[in-house]
Amino acid sequence: MNFSIAKLIRLPSYYFWHLSARVQFAIRGVKWPKHLTIKGPLGLSAIGRIELGDHITIVNDSKYNRAGINHPTQLVAGRDAILKIGNNVGMSGASIYAESSIEIGDHVLLGANARIYDTDFHPIHFQDRVAGAPAKTAAVVIGEHVWLAANVTILKGVHIGARSVIAAGSVVTSDIPKDCLAGGIPAKVIRKITENDLYNHPNSKLDNPN
Ligand SMILES: CC(C)(COP(=O)(O)OP(=O)(O)OC[C@H]1O[C@@H](n2cnc3c(N)ncnc32)[C@H](O)[C@@H]1OP(=O)(O)O)[C@@H](O)C(=O)NCCC(=O)NCCS
Repeated sequence: MNFSIAKLIRLPSYYFWHLSARVQFAIRGVKWPKHLTIKGPLGLSAIGRIELGDHITIVNDSKYNRAGINHPTQLVAGRDAILKIGNNVGMSGASIYAESSIEIGDHVLLGANARIYDTDFHPIHFQDRVAGAPAKTAAVVIGEHVWLAANVTILKGVHIGARSVIAAGSVVTSDIPKDCLAGGIPAKVIRKITENDLYNHPNSKLDNPN
């Protein structure tokens, strides 16, 4: 039977965090999606609208993802903002903060501690900060099948094309086209992702046994 003692021990906490998330969703008026897996405590703040697709996994604690999670996932939609997450999306210790609009496509993978902000939170000039002036905001779009590796930050106004990969620790300040590997601070396109990247492709650089 494929049921380890560790899994058995974790079962009560799984149901606890699931129940606690259900209460948060109900209080915030967020529709509970089909097949939501929650591991550890979730932070949810929805004055605006949060929409989650089906088959979502949200991991909030390093004991469930040994890549190293710094904090529980935070999903935030400010007043009049929309945060829309597609189907089959996985995230671990993400901070997704929408003041206007963030759209995440289907099959997106957000590595440990990925941050997606559509706002600067504060204005540049100190007098504006003192006066409590609003920060700049601009919509963010993450295309389907995108993978953000660990500790990636996506800033306001960025569009990431479908199937692209952003390397660990990158800060993305401008658009990345589809089917690209990009990385660095600020992130730049490193190369196109092609069939040669397939594990079983004859030209694959991976050391595969076939
Ligand atoms: C995205 C990733 C998988 C790409 O790996 P890869 O295809 O083997 O890429 P390479 O290591 O061959 O690097 C290609 C180029 O990108 C550069 N690069 C790789 N990672 C980079 C990074 N994080 N930031 C900036 N540049 C980077 C390399 O220096 C190399 O540059 P060069 O061609 O001038 O030598 C890898 O960079 C990465 O981020 N791995 C960590 C994944 C992770 O965080 N997993 C846990 C959470 S899910």
